[in-house]
Amino acid sequence: MGVLCPKIRAVENVRLRHMLMFWFDSRLSRLSVQNRYHPDGHSSVLPYLYYVPPLISEMNPFKVFEVAIRNLSRAFSDYRPSLGKVIIGTGDTGQLNSIPDNCIDYIFTDPPVFDYIYFSDLNFLRESWYKVWTNTEAEAVVNQAKAKELLDYQRLMRRCFEEYYRILKPNRWITIIFPSARARIWKLIQEAVIAAGFIVAGAYAVDRQKSYKAISTSVRQDLVVSAYKPGYDLEEHCKRLGGTPEIVWNFVTNHLKQLPVCIRADNNLIEIIDERLNYNLLECTKAFLAQRDVAMPLSAPEFYTGLDLQFPARNDMYFLSEQVIEYDKRRIKAEGVQQTKPQFVDEAKAIHWLQAQLFREPRTTQEIRSNFEGIILWAEEDQRLDLDNLLVQNFHYYQGRWQLPEPGELQKLASERRAILLKKFQEIRNSKTKIKPSQVEAARTGFVQALKDNEFETIIEMIWEIPDQILIEYPDLLWLYDRAAIRLGS
Ligand SMILES: C[S@@+](CC[C@H](N)C(=O)[O-])C[C@H]1O[C@@H](n2cnc3c(N)ncnc32)[C@H](O)[C@@H]1O
Repeated sequence: MGVLCPKIRAVENVRLRHMLMFWFDSRLSRLSVQNRYHPDGHSSVLPYLYYVPPLISEMNPFKVFEVAIRNLSRAFSDYRPSLGKVIIGTGDTGQLNSIPDNCIDYIFTDPPVFDYIYFSDLNFLRESWYKVWTNTEAEAVVNQAKAKELLDYQRLMRRCFEEYYRILKPNRWITIIFPSARARIWKLIQEAVIAAGFIVAGAYAVDRQKSYKAISTSVRQDLVVSAYKPGYDLEEHCKRLGGTPEIVWNFVTNHLKQLPVCIRADNNLIEIIDERLNYNLLECTKAFLAQRDVAMPLSAPEFYTGLDLQFPARNDMYFLSEQVIEYDKRRIKAEGVQQTKPQFVDEAKAIHWLQAQLFREPRTTQEIRSNFEGIILWAEEDQRLDLDNLLVQNFHYYQGRWQLPEPGELQKLASERRAILLKKFQEIRNSKTKIKPSQVEAARTGFVQALKDNEFETIIEMIWEIPDQILIEYPDLLWLYDRAAIRLGS
């Protein structure tokens, strides 16, 4: 190999030289001590690891390269690249300086996740032959050896999403794929995506072997997230109108315009488009306004009533008038509608879903539970939602049925819930133990109360009991801490 590599490097024709290098480096790990002996003769290398097995299978490079060139020629025999029509670049996505603003039609990105794979380290063997090494400063990874913590990872990812936002045209989409549908990863990346300005329209589980399907079956699946960059008009309206119902309905109209009208499943059924359901529309509207520091002017029942009055609905999905005509046409041709179950990332979304369930008619615990239990809660073990608690703390129980509380009662329920959370906060303070994800809501309520009561030291002292990972996932806690520190003058 030491003889072959310089010979390839000496080839003058650049394209040929690159192809030969590709051929050469495609078999590097197979020819290294990473090649694992297997009794059936099929030796292999474990991917994504530097692993030297106890039994190495030493390969003959002449044979390996001969087979490789045959396979590669076969694979590329029909390949006719259109020269000049594709640009491939390598570099830091956090600094796409050569790409102007608002010029890209679509982005598909497969970002690195935490410390799952040490990409640049794994490239070392290959890069050593090329004598070119990755500048790892901007690499988004959690790596103790390089002193890169979770906070560094999040900062680097945020830069990348800000650049994606800058170069994408308004009203155009970005698709983000992650190798795991775990809530923790998603929440962290979601924060970066939303902070950059994108509107997250939906999340789907993906089966890499098959096609994409809405989240419903397994927590272990990969995740595909679709988001878009809002148009200038909407941003302008938001700045001009602030927290008025008008901006809410402006946003919903714009958002519905962005969503697909009808998706056909394989079995001639029509898929429910989750993003068109009322509780998801509420969630999305709230996120859009919150990101722009605008208060949501409508309560959940007001929002749901407004939706019913202004937008035609089919199979619980809301449409613009012009869209519903197209939907009806396509619905007639399909055999039926495929039912999907919602998934909740957090308590707020679960409450929106319950509000939507109880909005039209009161229901018994049993009726609600039967819908609720089929749902796979997309959350860590200790964050699983307790239906009984959610009902008691947020809804009114009358003659055996749960219903939406009257506006006056809503306040009473909210203050009861605050009292419970404040008690929990005191218990956490006294225990002097680290805060767990399930205690975040109590910590948040305690911090807000402490700010109101000018007890800034409480927050400053408690912040150290919150692990970094939680602070990253719930940046509002850090924001409350900042307020307290500023008020204390420190
Ligand atoms: C999940 S992998 C993408 C794999 C690719 N889709 C494929 O199928 O081969 C993520 C990649 O992002 C790269 N990466 C990490 N930080 C980056 C940054 N700041 N800018 C650009 N790429 C980065 C990693 O080195 C890794 O190659």
